[in-house]
Amino acid sequence: MKKLFVMALCLLVLLGGCTQDSQQVSGVSEEDLIVVGFSQVGAESEWRVANTESIKAALTEDNGYELIYEDARQEQENQIRAIRTFIQRGVDCIVFSPIVETGWNSILQEAKQANIPVIVIDRYIEPGVEGLYTAYIGSDFYQEGEKAVQWLEEHLEKQGRDKEHLRIVHIQGTLGSSPQIGRTSALEKAIERHANWELVAQECGDFTRAKAYEVMSAILQKTTDIDVVYCENDGEALGAIDAMEEAGLNCHGSDGVIVISFDATRMGLEYCLEGKIALDVECNPLQGPYLDKIIKQLQKGEPVEPITYIEETQFDCFTITQEMIDGRDY
Ligand code: AHR
Repeated sequence: MKKLFVMALCLLVLLGGCTQDSQQVSGVSEEDLIVVGFSQVGAESEWRVANTESIKAALTEDNGYELIYEDARQEQENQIRAIRTFIQRGVDCIVFSPIVETGWNSILQEAKQANIPVIVIDRYIEPGVEGLYTAYIGSDFYQEGEKAVQWLEEHLEKQGRDKEHLRIVHIQGTLGSSPQIGRTSALEKAIERHANWELVAQECGDFTRAKAYEVMSAILQKTTDIDVVYCENDGEALGAIDAMEEAGLNCHGSDGVIVISFDATRMGLEYCLEGKIALDVECNPLQGPYLDKIIKQLQKGEPVEPITYIEETQFDCFTITQEMIDGRDY
């Protein structure tokens, strides 16, 4: 009996030790962790997965955070619900990537009334509500589209094809999202500038390989006379290429259909190395470290940059190398 009592006592001491340990994470007690509620759009693309990983890797307990992660599964109402829950829980900071640009006014008002800073990442919100959130970290999507059309203009000029009639298929991202709005607007402006550029089809691929394959297959039923396919992300480019190859089209940018894409994920760049994606404009998902920096500044009461555009580059099938792909983080 005495032996049993001593064992139970040891167990209690051990458990007590565990409880104390769980309150102390790398020198930061649980009460001192910065509680961040993060509502992500979903997991529609390789890019999105890399973005989620980057944020989770930056906002760890070891780095002083308690991260509450919510996946909205492509639904704005899920994002609004998640943000409302974060407000009710009284988190220190709300982070979200808005699936579309509009419809955020009232939930942002609620966060403001609760005095909770909101950091918008990746995609932006329509102009006019800047006063309702603290900072934006992400890409300049119109600029990305501009890089793509400028490259196309220069490429056609080098090939001596700049005066030829150019038939363009456009596969758009999720309608109403800022990457779709920015990348579409750059292409549409270029089409207006060039009397010889014709938009033969414009369909939504929803940033996924499956949807892009479906819409591209339907377009190919109507016409295979296509010079350029402008896809708004790598997933869509891969789906469009699948459909074109099935229809017997040559997708090598040097002597076939010129496929333009955005993101520059590993898979996209491998297609670029093969010559099947002629140009891949980078959209950088590695936003975690930028977010960490801004949240820590806010915690210290320091002023923060209202807009941080992340550095981005581009790759084309004529200059990309395996070493370039190997040196990438996503
Ligand atoms: O908002 C960034 C875009 O969303 C990326 O281009 C795309 O892949 C993602 O789904």
